[in-house]
Amino acid sequence: KMKLAVLTSGGDSAGMNAVVRSVVKAGIMRGCETWIVREGYEGLVRGNTAPHKYHTDPPTVPSIAREAYAHAHHSNLLENLRFGDGDLLRDGTGDHPGGRTLKGRYIVRVGWDDVRGWFAQGGTLIGTARSTVFRTVEGRLKAAHNLIKEGIDAIVVCGGDGSLSGADVFRAEWPSHVATLLAQGAITPEQAEKHGHLRIAGLVGSIDNDMSMTDLTIGAVTALTRICEAVDNINSTAASHSRAFVLEVMGRHCGWLALMAGVSAGADFIFIPERPPKADPWEDEMCEEIQRHREVGKRKTIVIVAEGALDSNLQPIRADYIKDVLTERLGLDTRVTTLGHTQRGGKPCAYDRILPTLQGEEAVKALLESTPETPSYMIGVRENKITRVPLMEAVAMTREAGEAIAAKDFTKAMSLRDNEFHQ
Ligand code: F6P
Repeated sequence: KMKLAVLTSGGDSAGMNAVVRSVVKAGIMRGCETWIVREGYEGLVRGNTAPHKYHTDPPTVPSIAREAYAHAHHSNLLENLRFGDGDLLRDGTGDHPGGRTLKGRYIVRVGWDDVRGWFAQGGTLIGTARSTVFRTVEGRLKAAHNLIKEGIDAIVVCGGDGSLSGADVFRAEWPSHVATLLAQGAITPEQAEKHGHLRIAGLVGSIDNDMSMTDLTIGAVTALTRICEAVDNINSTAASHSRAFVLEVMGRHCGWLALMAGVSAGADFIFIPERPPKADPWEDEMCEEIQRHREVGKRKTIVIVAEGALDSNLQPIRADYIKDVLTERLGLDTRVTTLGHTQRGGKPCAYDRILPTLQGEEAVKALLESTPETPSYMIGVRENKITRVPLMEAVAMTREAGEAIAAKDFTKAMSLRDNEFHQ
């Protein structure tokens, strides 16, 4: 029986809860024992230091529902997460008044009802972190020990490219971790034998849509929807006052959110890292374009700038500077709006429920079929089909896109990003 754990890592994105829900339910349906890891890789390294109270002690508060969960699906998660136990990392002690049964436990067995309705919730209910300790070999050795102690032999990681390449490194090192733990006497020869192979699959959770070899990442469409709503709202003021607005959107080094916001909500000028303005200096090009729009009768101006936007000399293009240019050269009454984390949170749109649901199912299938010879897979989507691609190929191609920008090969960058609509 495969023991399967799921974790979310890196920046949260809408749809991560749907991933957990889907992996847990698909796992149970296929006869697996299902677990979650709280607080991303950090939780994997911290592991379980407290005993598994809920299964050994009867619940302190009698509840028909709790009894039923425990009976049917070994549920022990629901109540605790609702009590805000995710504050554990903040106080650094692992101790939180709400965290009754989860205190000192980061790797937790879950059942069907624990994840009921999770696809409607924003963020990630099992917590996430940008772990520094998992970046060290010692941290990963501890993580390996914690998994073996619980008997877990398969993991689904949902996160961005950094989190997924971390997963692949972990898997590649796995045999050496097992050998070290055995030599240290930390695990028995039976455990070493049983855990010779770690199965890993990655799902891409990121609002940035910056991963190559997949058309869309989980959370990107929801973030885009938030941006559209913001532009719609700003349009009211822009048109009423005949103003210009410069909107800074997220996306890290990727321009997908900015570009698609222009397509779906309208913009007079867009700045993205993969395709800097052709003219150098670019200010004339932008002003001419916006002046032309004003001359044909537009009362408002919207400029969308990706947070990672660059000019053709690879210098950052900042929203405040664009505002100064529009004010001084065109005399436009201009405001800057930085959308920030309003883009990342909130309810997932329908697509960010469908995609993780289908991909979670595929991840479980891939793990069940995994052998020491098969690569770790990233579950993607291409032309409406859920796909499996070698995780490291996707990570390498994503890196190459960044390198192409640094080498000013913008055409190559655009094609390697592989996530724009082509016409
Ligand atoms: O990768 C997701 C993202 O939201 C980026 O768009 C942004 O640059 C970054 O994370 C912000 O990170 P943080 O939430 O740690 O400030």
